[in-house]
Amino acid sequence: MLIIGIETSCDDTAVAVIDGEYNIKANIISSQVKIHSKYGGVVPELASREHLKNILPVFNQCIKEANINLNDIDVISVTKGPGLVISLLVGLNFAKGLSINIKKPLITVNHLYAHLNSVFIEYKNIPLPYLGLVASGGHTNLFYTEDNMNFNSIARTRDDAIGEAYDKIAKLLNLGYPGGPIIDKLAQECEPGYINLPIAKMSDNSLDFSFSGLKTAFYYFLKKEHLIPFPENNKSLLTALASSFQHAAISIIIDRLEKALSMLKPKCLIISGGVACNSLLRLKSIDIASKFHIPIFIPKPSLCTDNAAMTAVIGYHKFKKKLFDNLSADAEPTYYDY
Ligand code: KG4
Ligand code: ZN
Repeated sequence: MLIIGIETSCDDTAVAVIDGEYNIKANIISSQVKIHSKYGGVVPELASREHLKNILPVFNQCIKEANINLNDIDVISVTKGPGLVISLLVGLNFAKGLSINIKKPLITVNHLYAHLNSVFIEYKNIPLPYLGLVASGGHTNLFYTEDNMNFNSIARTRDDAIGEAYDKIAKLLNLGYPGGPIIDKLAQECEPGYINLPIAKMSDNSLDFSFSGLKTAFYYFLKKEHLIPFPENNKSLLTALASSFQHAAISIIIDRLEKALSMLKPKCLIISGGVACNSLLRLKSIDIASKFHIPIFIPKPSLCTDNAAMTAVIGYHKFKKKLFDNLSADAEPTYYDY
């Protein structure tokens, strides 16, 4: 059994092949970070053009590295959404062409559920039901599932995604893009407490997230202290600010995880998406899972960020349920349930 995954939802062109035991045969990712870094965020039109340029070479490299023939592939799994629509369409149309060419079924998958399914590559027994967090540059969502097929949306961000907030704060501090890993590294060099930032709670008791108040409070602090533009060569101030921001941003996530765990009592916790690389989130979520006496699964960093191996995993799960798509499948830019 061989599943090919194709992922172009944002700024990574990714193609991977896995087998029916979730072993990765090849997992190729072409990153566009250099192109978008000068703009401090992803520029959709540039992303789409890069996908068009890269998809065939990435696909060819993947087939070569997996050491397979095209006819060995049993099923094609491709991201349908959510994401940038003109980026999604590149991967989707490529997958359709491949499906016609090799006469193998097409399956379209939800990128957020794919992030949650990335854990199956490293861990074989994932107890159900589970609570899953997807925290990335475009999304901050909590899901609860009893069967890893139907996902109940427990919470989502009402404004920025957490990774987007990290990237915007990094831009204010002239740190480059993507800002999450840079802020995380600086934050580890200092204790939090230099500034007190708000940890947003919803007035209606919902578990939804919000990061825009935190971002605005951070901006007004810099403005009040005449730190815009941010001065160069001020490492100790940078580490103090980074640590205060990281503490507040991760506290928002941990607060919601704690409430959701006590409400839903799942059998395990999954943390996924690019922000799952974050050192503080990893530490604090391990603590919280142990407080509730449940196992926690967090992929290794290379499987937290966008990749097509996770797209293949969820495609395989849909394949086993015969949930095929046809050539009229369209891209879904916003969150949708299967
Ligand atoms: O999942 P991903 O690769 O792409 C999206 O679907 O968005 O996530 C990328 C996001 C970026 O916003 C990046 O700054 C953030 O993940 N990120 C981090 C860390 N590593 C990546 N944020 C905080 N701490 C990190 N260590
Ligand atoms: Zn993603």
